Amino acid sequence: MDEANVNELLEAQAHVWNHIFSFINSMSLNCAVDLGIPDIIQNHGQPMNLTELLAALPTLNPTKARNIYRLMRILVHSGFFAQQNFSHGDGVQEDGYVLTNASRLLLKDNPLSVTPFLKVMLDPILTKPWDFLGIWFQSNDCTPFGTAHGKELWDYACHDPKLGNLFNEGMASDARLVSSVLIDKCKGSFEGLDSLVDVGGGTGTVGKAIAHAFPHLNCTVLDLPHVVAGLKDSGNLKYVGGDMFEDVPAADAVLLKSILHDWNDDECVKILKRCKEAISEQDKGVVIKKKVMIVDMVVMEKKKVNDESFNLMETQLFLDMLMMVLQTGRERREEEWAKLFFAAGFTNYNITPILGLRSLIELFP
Ligand SMILES: C[S@@+](CC[C@H](N)C(=O)[O-])C[C@H]1O[C@@H](n2cnc3c(N)ncnc32)[C@H](O)[C@@H]1O
Repeated sequence: MDEANVNELLEAQAHVWNHIFSFINSMSLNCAVDLGIPDIIQNHGQPMNLTELLAALPTLNPTKARNIYRLMRILVHSGFFAQQNFSHGDGVQEDGYVLTNASRLLLKDNPLSVTPFLKVMLDPILTKPWDFLGIWFQSNDCTPFGTAHGKELWDYACHDPKLGNLFNEGMASDARLVSSVLIDKCKGSFEGLDSLVDVGGGTGTVGKAIAHAFPHLNCTVLDLPHVVAGLKDSGNLKYVGGDMFEDVPAADAVLLKSILHDWNDDECVKILKRCKEAISEQDKGVVIKKKVMIVDMVVMEKKKVNDESFNLMETQLFLDMLMMVLQTGRERREEEWAKLFFAAGFTNYNITPILGLRSLIELFP
């Protein structure tokens, strides 16, 4: 074999190995969060050397101390920590670990913390279905989640309060991030509305934020009865237990955040028809532009032009596969969205990109 062939072979092998082992990035990150490392470094207040980090890990077994360096090394490589040169005051310079923007998003006190999302997505109940993907392709089963667990996700969450709570907390953490951006960037979209129903609104994170930002707006959160059981109405916010396939309470606007990507096309059309009925009910004769507001991804199939677009495309593909494994849904391109909207009887839509890959899509009857 000449040198060029050997190099190609080695490159190909490295590519395969990186993909075989890419789960190690997720699992190492999960472990660092379990050990509380981001908060420990944050609380230290200055770059933290390895000895200090070891001393601050109260539950660390001393026989494992040498391995923390190895855990930190891969997390520095993957961009979750950085090393910064600093002086202890005695003039001696050394390297200490500091947080990066990514690990700041894992801090417990960060109101926009994504840790609950990480914890649910890497929970073995949600990762097990990936072992069944091949079997699912050869079966009649609805989802790999169902193949793995014998019931679908919402049914599982209803009967296993531990998973249900973990899931609701994970979604709430994403909802905090999205609602802060939505309310800030898309204020105008809420103008003129007197009422809004957040369909599949979980435990009400987005609903509460909207009710707080727009005190004149009556906000209803609709979710499955077990999800909203025990949640208390307050001020202009109320909870309703129900099934969005059956009935959506009447309102000037219906919000669907991270809902339609969970479902297949036929299911989406059914949900959208219920939403259209909800905004079609006649009231007081006031002319308001009633609408359905969707917050979801609009997939842009771009060629790899740079690292950023490559990463964005990879995130879209990850989420699309996730929807295939956990549920019956998918991430959709604009043309695919438009087909659903027209099939459900809407005549017009408008897309505003709001948060990275996610957009606000406004639908008008
Ligand atoms: C992916 S979560 C999104 C939650 C919330 N919109 C958010 O973005 O944080 C989907 C939500 O749909 C709810 N759901 C599932 N089936 C439903 C149904 N038939 N009727 C109403 N809600 C449903 C789930 O309980 C869950 O809270």
